[in-house]
Amino acid sequence: MNKETRDLLFDQAKQWILEAGATIRRKINDPITIQTKSNANDLVTTMDKETEQFFVGKIKSKYPSHYLFSEEGFGDKLSSLEGTVWIIDPIDGTMNFVHQKRHFAISVGIYQDGIGEIGFIYDVMADILYSAKKGEGAMKNGAKLPPLKTDLTLQESIVGMNHYWLCKNNLVKETAMQELVKQVRGTRTYGSAALEFAYVAEGIIDCYLAMKLSPWDIAAGKIIVHEVGGITTNISGNEFTMLDSDAVLTCHPAIHESILSEFLIKGKK
Ligand code: IPD
Ligand code: CA
Ligand code: CA
Repeated sequence: MNKETRDLLFDQAKQWILEAGATIRRKINDPITIQTKSNANDLVTTMDKETEQFFVGKIKSKYPSHYLFSEEGFGDKLSSLEGTVWIIDPIDGTMNFVHQKRHFAISVGIYQDGIGEIGFIYDVMADILYSAKKGEGAMKNGAKLPPLKTDLTLQESIVGMNHYWLCKNNLVKETAMQELVKQVRGTRTYGSAALEFAYVAEGIIDCYLAMKLSPWDIAAGKIIVHEVGGITTNISGNEFTMLDSDAVLTCHPAIHESILSEFLIKGKK
């Protein structure tokens, strides 16, 4: 994608994201219908669906040749990332949206033939927009985010993770994860994968480790983290395919290798 196309697409996507966010804020106290999906804790609301439909309507009318890969099923069924593909999570952190009315995000990643070109993560209630353009760095509300510093040890790191890592699971021995928790400075759980990626990019946490994420959870975050020098892989150290779900590690570059080899690969079941 050339710079002119990328810049125009960035401005258009940004406008739609801010518009969608303003609608959510305006309706935040309206009654919503909550349904469950794969299990009783996998929630979806009318707001998730309406927000996704807003993006589908806008994108399909302005860019009919673009594809849309999105969580609630109003987009396209894709088996490849050929062409221009918008990968959208209309509300990432639906449980936070339902229970807390805050700490959720709109996540939009735009890919060209599988290459990440543009990423947006919008913390709707805080009105904070993280963004990135390929090769041009990442921003928070329009101000450039500094590259991640290289001098960081595991002992000084804050790791974002869900507590299920500490229970018996089929990925990594729980004792390996308990050892990680003991070695790092602290852990945090925010309940929105997209925001946790944004926080890694901002350098306010140093790593985020997730057991199963879908392409829409990480499409924007991977681009934003990459633009400040962070590294995103699956927990075997391979690239996330962006078509299937996988376990994910996104990190400050100084600790990626040690978390991967010492805890995830050595601790693998
Ligand atoms: C979820 C959130 C959550 C993560 C889950 C995701 P959703 O997305 O990002 O933090 O732990 O794996 O599915 O369902 O709220 O869009
Ligand atoms: Ca999500
Ligand atoms: Ca979602």
